[in-house]
Amino acid sequence: MCGIFAYKGPQKNAAHIVINGLKKLEYRGYDSWGIAFKNRNNEIEIHKEIGKISEIDLDSLKDTENHLAIGHTRWATHGGVTRANAHPHSSEDKSIAVIHNGIIENYLEIKKDLQKKGHKFASETDTEIIVHLIEENMSLGFEKAFHKTLEKINGRFAIIAIYDKEDKIIAARKGSPLIVGLNDEKKEYFIASDIPAFLKYTNKVMYLDDNQMVIVNDELKFYDIQNFKSIEKRVIEIDWHEEMAEKGDHPHFMIKEIFEQKDTLSRAINQDEEKIKEVAQAIKSAYGTFLVGCGTAGKVCHAASYIFSQVAKKHVNFTFGSEFPSYHHFLTDRTLMIAVSQSGETADTLEAMEIAKEKGVKLVSIVNVETSTMARMSDIVLPVKAGPEKAVASTKATTSQLAILTLLAYACADKLQEGKQLLINTAAQINDMINPRYEEHIETLANKIKDVESMYVIGKSLNYPMALEAAIKLQEVSYIHAEGFAGGELKHGPIALISEGTPCIAIIANDETKNEILSNAMEIKARGGYIIGVSPDNNEIFDYWLKTPDAGDASPIVNIIPIQILAYKLAVLRKNNPDMPRNLAKSVTVK
Ligand code: F6R
Repeated sequence: MCGIFAYKGPQKNAAHIVINGLKKLEYRGYDSWGIAFKNRNNEIEIHKEIGKISEIDLDSLKDTENHLAIGHTRWATHGGVTRANAHPHSSEDKSIAVIHNGIIENYLEIKKDLQKKGHKFASETDTEIIVHLIEENMSLGFEKAFHKTLEKINGRFAIIAIYDKEDKIIAARKGSPLIVGLNDEKKEYFIASDIPAFLKYTNKVMYLDDNQMVIVNDELKFYDIQNFKSIEKRVIEIDWHEEMAEKGDHPHFMIKEIFEQKDTLSRAINQDEEKIKEVAQAIKSAYGTFLVGCGTAGKVCHAASYIFSQVAKKHVNFTFGSEFPSYHHFLTDRTLMIAVSQSGETADTLEAMEIAKEKGVKLVSIVNVETSTMARMSDIVLPVKAGPEKAVASTKATTSQLAILTLLAYACADKLQEGKQLLINTAAQINDMINPRYEEHIETLANKIKDVESMYVIGKSLNYPMALEAAIKLQEVSYIHAEGFAGGELKHGPIALISEGTPCIAIIANDETKNEILSNAMEIKARGGYIIGVSPDNNEIFDYWLKTPDAGDASPIVNIIPIQILAYKLAVLRKNNPDMPRNLAKSVTVK
């Protein structure tokens, strides 16, 4: 949440580099943006605007010459979407500029204290106290003033600051991601909240861990925030390439990523079998296993709890990251936690992991960003291998996470090879299913229902969590009111919502739940509902049929894909931006 980016190096157009980098981070927040750079006269110049950074015209900055710049694309937390609240924030004399991602929990008391000392605030943000605190301590020098500020603030943050009298960038991290990209030969350095921002220039990175800061001058110096002692960091070469983070011929990232599921599933299945067996053994011997994730990843965990029950006859708990703290009473050093996440940076899941770690719980993570905080915190990492996912709505990471958990369930039942074969077949079926004709067929449906106010999704067993996930996909990009239900629950209340023509998607797998969920769909049809069947077989009660392959225990994977495409088509027809839906942001690094 909030994208931050900084550049220092030999190129003369640091402001342009930062703006272009921010455009690649826009999925992290897009209500306003801003940059600060040192101009020819060594003054700090700030440009900030409401709206999306992708809409900026670089001509306004064409005469500037600068080697050092910082920038921010915002997802508002404290203070509305106004130009004044956009970052960077500067000291009253404009000598210091700061950008920040995260939340400063004790900002109000610090603000009051600073106001008493005469500081005047220009915004409603928590961030602005950082720059005033640095200013207050500048008699110590920039570096020490920055460090002293860190001692005063509580919360989760990533902060970058510059000072007009010094040619350096200082950055610190506690809870929110910050990655340094480097080209040491050229003395060129980048700092960003996510790798795609600088992938065009380098694939060499150094991760800041929590409670660490970096000073970028003509070289990089890392420090432990707690004692301000210098520390050594390792350079890691990552195997992502710039094209992987580009749209290619697709109009949006969301549809590109949906289509990538032709390949991503095969990559996900290709896990280190020894590691899969090790995790399966850990599940079998654990005194309680918790699957933890948020949003879509939470729905993946929920579906996996059914898959483990069905395939391995094993009970595993699932909970959303934000709800996990209430379960801490049950944790011991024999508990196992499996955290599921695309970004590996979601604050609620990270907090759950921190709580678990303190109790000695063994941590496994299934993450797409292999170098993320969650991956680095875990005892065992099962990489999702979906490549960069940039659309806010998760698609390809979701199905890959489901595949890995299905594989684990089979491994728990000592049937790893059978599970692998099932998933290999499913990947081939998906490859056949996703094609332009299928997309067109779904677009025809989207045209029929694009103006509805509400729609519902029902599923049962493994596919009940997929009904919930389908509703998330529809809500977040189409903005149509959508809700998912367990088919059997309808008659206990929700069926009152059905009226003439209300679209209802029925996810119907070819298993022992088929007849029951068909009956539920029939109950809706009898009350005027428009039934969209997602299923391997057509049925006379369907008003529209979205055919899916018969994938057995892997049915959640295949069933969610047509609904991802439908959500995308509805978003486009309703003139929404599917990659950057309103009010949302990818990588939710605040609680
Ligand atoms: C919805 C979506 C979110 C994320 C959630 C967790 O399409 O993408 O609900 O699933 O914010 O994010 P990660 O997986 O990065 O932990």
